[in-house]
Amino acid sequence: MMNGVWPVGFSWTFSEANQIDTTRDHYENFPYPPRDPADEQHRLLTPALDCFDMLNHYGFGGARDFEDEFTVLVAGGGTGDSTIFLAEQLKSTSNKVVHVDISQQSIDVAKERAQVRGLTNIEWRQANLLNLNSSEIGTFDYINCTGVLHHLPDPSMGLASITSLLKDDGVLGLMVYGQYARTGVYQLQNLLRHLNKDADQEKKVSNAKSVLSQLPDTNWFKRGSELFGDHRLGDAGIYDLLLHEQDRAYTIAELIGLLGDHGLMLSKLVDSWLYDPGRYLQSEDLETQIATLDPTEQMSVAELVSGTLKTHTLYAHKNRCAEPEFGLDKVISLTLSNDTSIYSRFHRLIVENLREPKVSFSHENNSIDLEPSEALAAALKHTDGERSIAEILKRATMRGKAKRRDVLRALEAFYKTLNTYDMAFLRSSAVARYRTKKELHGA
Ligand SMILES: C[S@@+](CC[C@H](N)C(=O)[O-])C[C@H]1O[C@@H](n2cnc3c(N)ncnc32)[C@H](O)[C@@H]1O
Repeated sequence: MMNGVWPVGFSWTFSEANQIDTTRDHYENFPYPPRDPADEQHRLLTPALDCFDMLNHYGFGGARDFEDEFTVLVAGGGTGDSTIFLAEQLKSTSNKVVHVDISQQSIDVAKERAQVRGLTNIEWRQANLLNLNSSEIGTFDYINCTGVLHHLPDPSMGLASITSLLKDDGVLGLMVYGQYARTGVYQLQNLLRHLNKDADQEKKVSNAKSVLSQLPDTNWFKRGSELFGDHRLGDAGIYDLLLHEQDRAYTIAELIGLLGDHGLMLSKLVDSWLYDPGRYLQSEDLETQIATLDPTEQMSVAELVSGTLKTHTLYAHKNRCAEPEFGLDKVISLTLSNDTSIYSRFHRLIVENLREPKVSFSHENNSIDLEPSEALAAALKHTDGERSIAEILKRATMRGKAKRRDVLRALEAFYKTLNTYDMAFLRSSAVARYRTKKELHGA
């Protein structure tokens, strides 16, 4: 038995202990997600939850300066996607990221990725996250735990463990599987359990490949297979998706209930527009009926009707954290992009369509409408992710062409539209500009 893996003070059933062993063996043999450290030379992966612009907005009211002390834990960090991105964003500070995983092979992949990038601000720990305690590891401002809780024999115990490490004003970034969209996955997992009795890991994978190649069109996984790509990522992907021995999923209502059990409240769902029933059901009678439901029930309706929510990704807090309000002392930051040209591209889009009542652009299968106006063009000309709204207003109204009130209104409407789609965030003007993807990657 591995040192440091078994929780002190927890009482384990034999079967729970066994399940943890099985999960560890799985990830020792198939580190997930499969990553080639050499890829770090030509790209940086940027998981949305860990982008400082969104994290600051929803996690800390836009007021957090990441240069100040900022403690980060990635619990069940796997092969390092979040850890690497967070460490890149913290590289210029004295803050570090603690990466914990039960699988040494997964840590080794993540470590190699960090080496390729020259990152030295990561602390690596092979441990069972159920065994972490604050007196030893400390407490954290941000804990990322994505794709992990649903693989624990008792996810509630896992959430209790990480919540005990979260500072009172800290934020938890969580991802767990969504139930309905994975219907076909669970059918295939069941099917493979029938076929894989007594099979070793290699045989299980070959059986899975064989079944995948012969699925009839009527099969539920095949019908919904455009939702999933992991089985195309090689053996580790197939194992994670179809052969996991410890895998459960949550409806949004169950997840909110689980958070509540641990004194946590949901602050923000990533891709929250997908949880809006009005996106799918637009008749007046249904809209009226839906409006009478509480927010969780409304989200449940969206989840049931859409059928595509294969994961739920969110921020949660112990204490309510107010969202930053649009105001003169704020800076509008457009979602982490490759470079700062995103600001001038929006300016150009508005200028080129000034005569149109609306201009649309697409983002993540959404068609998003903006209202072109001279006032918006004047505001966007000076919006660069660094200037405060006060500074933008000053510049935009300098020659007296655009009216202050019009500029402010147009900019606020622009910001709100983009914010709905996780494309624009606010931060305090005292907080330095976030680096672009290109700057972070060092290209
Ligand atoms: C599906 S992977 C997700 C990896 C990473 N969080 C991501 O989103 O890319 C799940 C990870 O959780 C780790 N894990 C599972 N149970 C754990 C436990 N009890 N303690 C620590 N890590 C655990 C596994 O080893 C694996 O690396």
